[in-house]
Amino acid sequence: MEQLAFVKEFTKTTQDAWLKGWHERNGGNLSYRLTDSEVQEARPFFSESDAWIDIGVAVPNLANQYFMVTGSGKYFRNVEVCIEENAGVIQVSQDGTQYKVLWGLTNNAKPTSELPAHLMNHSVKYDVTGGQHRVVMHSHTTNLIALTFVLPLEAETFTRELWEMATECPVVFPAGVGIVPWMVPGGKAIAEHTSELMKKYDVAIWAHHGTFCSAEDLSLAFGLMDTVEKAAEILVKVLAMGGKRQTIQPQEFKELESAFNVKLNEKVLA
Ligand code: 13P
Ligand code: ZN
Repeated sequence: MEQLAFVKEFTKTTQDAWLKGWHERNGGNLSYRLTDSEVQEARPFFSESDAWIDIGVAVPNLANQYFMVTGSGKYFRNVEVCIEENAGVIQVSQDGTQYKVLWGLTNNAKPTSELPAHLMNHSVKYDVTGGQHRVVMHSHTTNLIALTFVLPLEAETFTRELWEMATECPVVFPAGVGIVPWMVPGGKAIAEHTSELMKKYDVAIWAHHGTFCSAEDLSLAFGLMDTVEKAAEILVKVLAMGGKRQTIQPQEFKELESAFNVKLNEKVLA
């Protein structure tokens, strides 16, 4: 199992994210929806269990789909050491309300406590991207968290501040970032709030907690998280130096649209 390409890439992503400093202790979680051919490759390693467990939310459009997910309470830095103990493969039930573990999550480990948020985000993105998005990543991104104590918790303002920090930001996240106010993590309510934002954005920041992002593949999810967090790091430095003296203007952002063939969220430039 560890030799399969998608498992190697999943492991590499957790290791890279750990090295970024986004995953203290068990902070953060990752989920990847397998392709049909990956399911066939992995199937010989699955052990069928009859134990269906409630997800806590309903994701009927993900019926029978397979996901590799990190375990609850497990450390990203340990996925590389032993992926079987720290992550696993689950399948969603026919009615989209339950899952069962087919591989990994040994010693009675459970999928991440944020499974409802991961699966609801996958569910929304499955519909809005026609099945193109396969990855949901949640990281405790230091600088983005810091900014949630200082910037207004409002999508357009937050996005504009981040876009201004690096010319290619609007190209990488043209819809911007959504903001979830402080909420109790791990449940249905925060999952519903986040997935509602995912209809519009690929990035949702949880105030005073961390960041969720969604993308086509593991590299793009990691790259998106890294880009948004790097913009936040620059902004933290700029604020620490006393604030902006000059910046990118709305008209200059508009010039990026034709140069990069991208449509920017108008509300952010208003
Ligand atoms: P888990 O260890 O259950 O994945 O939770 C970590 C986390 O970041 C909760 O938001
Ligand atoms: Zn978290």
